[in-house]
Amino acid sequence: MDWHAQWIQPAENLGDVSPLFEKKFPLGKQVQSATLYITALGVYEAELNGQRVGTYVLAPGWTSYQKRLQYQAYDVTALLQAENTLRVTIGKGWYRGRLPGWEANECYNELHKAPAGMLAQLEIRYRDGRREDIATDDTWTAGESRVRFSELYDGETYDASFVPEKASRSAAVCFHGPYDCLIPQQGEEIREKEQVRAARIFTTPKGETVVDFGQNLTGYVAISLNAHKGDIVELSHAEVMDRQGNFYTENYRSAKAKYCYICKEGPQTYQPKFTYFGFRYIRIDAFPGGAANAKLEDFTAVVVYSDIRRTGSLCCSNQALNQLFANILWGQKGNFLDVPTDCPQRDERLGWTGDAQVFIRTAALNFDVEKFFTKWLADLAADQGADGSVGHVIPNVLGNESSAAWGDAAAICPWEIYLAYGNPDILSRQFASMKQWVRYITTHTRKPYLWTGGTHFGDWLGLDAPSGSYKGLTRDDLIASAFYAHSTDLVIRAGKVLGEDVSEFEALYPRIVDAFQTMYPQYETQTECVLAAHFKLAKDCQKAADQLADMVQKAGTALQTGFVGTPYLLHVLSDYGYCDLAYSLLVREAYPSWLYPVTKGATTIWEHWDGIKENGDFWSKDMNSFNHYAYGAVADWVYGVAAGIVRDEAHPGYAKVTVAPHPDKRLDWLKAALETRHGLVRSEWKKADGMWRYEIETPVDATITISGTAYSVSRGIHTFYSAL
Ligand code: BGC
Repeated sequence: MDWHAQWIQPAENLGDVSPLFEKKFPLGKQVQSATLYITALGVYEAELNGQRVGTYVLAPGWTSYQKRLQYQAYDVTALLQAENTLRVTIGKGWYRGRLPGWEANECYNELHKAPAGMLAQLEIRYRDGRREDIATDDTWTAGESRVRFSELYDGETYDASFVPEKASRSAAVCFHGPYDCLIPQQGEEIREKEQVRAARIFTTPKGETVVDFGQNLTGYVAISLNAHKGDIVELSHAEVMDRQGNFYTENYRSAKAKYCYICKEGPQTYQPKFTYFGFRYIRIDAFPGGAANAKLEDFTAVVVYSDIRRTGSLCCSNQALNQLFANILWGQKGNFLDVPTDCPQRDERLGWTGDAQVFIRTAALNFDVEKFFTKWLADLAADQGADGSVGHVIPNVLGNESSAAWGDAAAICPWEIYLAYGNPDILSRQFASMKQWVRYITTHTRKPYLWTGGTHFGDWLGLDAPSGSYKGLTRDDLIASAFYAHSTDLVIRAGKVLGEDVSEFEALYPRIVDAFQTMYPQYETQTECVLAAHFKLAKDCQKAADQLADMVQKAGTALQTGFVGTPYLLHVLSDYGYCDLAYSLLVREAYPSWLYPVTKGATTIWEHWDGIKENGDFWSKDMNSFNHYAYGAVADWVYGVAAGIVRDEAHPGYAKVTVAPHPDKRLDWLKAALETRHGLVRSEWKKADGMWRYEIETPVDATITISGTAYSVSRGIHTFYSAL
């Protein structure tokens, strides 16, 4: 892209008000085509002749801005006229908002203070072959817009009655904005993907008027009403109601999550432009004529997420499990807004690396996330320290620390994307970063061939955590060393796919395994057993799995694992002969379990196993998100083991299909479908005439294993039976 546009900003600092830039231009000749290239320091919305340009929400998206700032290209041919007005409003977005790292991290602090600048180049080609560009420069004007305040955590104030005085607009000022880091749009656009109608409106014991959308979701509310100029609509957002049935916002921490709309005269509709909320309920704090005047049909929730394509589905005879599957999907939708975030509601919403690596296998089954992760992993590599360190969050607004199982996203995520889609490009792009990460561990440990020392999140939120702590009892050094081995192993595998020399890592790997076995001959927690067996680090993996089964049973057939152990827990059980026990954990409804939140009415995945306790109290107010996808990672076991659609390293991207279903009598039937790059894979089983009946569809050659017997089949639909 050949930029000759100049970065522009308003002549004076407009504070919280979003600036509106404007350019008027006539067009004399016949236009063949016109493309608008545009980006901003903040988030922008462009309008050409009163029509919104494109459908991208919160453009230009979120990247590691110092190194990579995306610009977008829109075909605007159809919007042009003889006389044209191009208007662009800029909100704070991630660039200039109050993300938690801003105060602490110097270079981000600089970004934060950057002007609400924009850069645009409208390239017009005429039928006669000539080209004309309308580019940002000091012939544009800037002034206040109707967006009086906008911030991602705090919400938005929009004054529809505000009419800027002509005189208040002044010439925009050119400044030295960034060019070197500009890149074309790389991920999917964030879009308005779904609408959810308000389900009920009610009054709480405190007398608050609350609208329930019936679904915890991420996005914003569109309002439609007839009002007088100056009337006010004010809405607060919440995920849950408290024990007494009142509106509960304490778990949003400092995020105000408010939306204020000042009406113009007459019928009108509005939805926020530059912010989003994680919510199921809204409280009507102000409404024309009072909250009691509000009607259900005045409110529609607009669900916003990256434009990723749905690829997988799960369904079975157990309704609670079906609700869990739905919750997992909603967890992904709610947290795949350009960056895989921990949660969408409180003052965080960051690209936590640990959460992403925990959930990525499930993410890549539910939706096609190759492009999404290609972009995010490019940010991870861009933000990686010169010493190979990987931040806790990407984009790295928090600074350059590294924690085991979080930083390991550098190795795990590229590998999982490769296995899911079969395209080695992601490995070539990330290989240097993967190696750097492993070398970082090698040079930052106190004991060679292990990773000891450092500050880690441990088995985050494990149920064996001592009271008052977020960290489960699993030893930090054991987790760190286990992931050191795992990441080294993945570098070797990736290197082999790419034909790279991996002798350094091949020499390292057996030494890590040896050191691990010497250092950790015994396992003390469920997660320790899980890691030792799953990563094949134990001298006797069967013994580690036996111990795990025993611990699970002794805990009352219950899990105690946190973020680190949970994703592999059921896999270890079913891999080592305890499939029955794995199902017991899956279908368990009593606390703690995946289905416990379902029994409490959850419509998304909770951060804590006990976000709402059995007596109705909350776990805490400071770390209690009700939309945290991490524990939704269990879906990958349902696709991969229960339905048996296996991710096969020998045939990445399901180029050849392996299906090995594991039915369980507690379910009458189960269906899984996965749209792969080679076509639809479907695995279904049900009880029929005192037998298990399997129906398996494959788009390519497949190996199907039923009750231990393997069958080679070609593309098509195949039926099998086995004893119940
Ligand atoms: C986030 C987590 C994250 C964790 C680090 C939390 O505040 O919400 O999901 O992984 O910090 O331990």
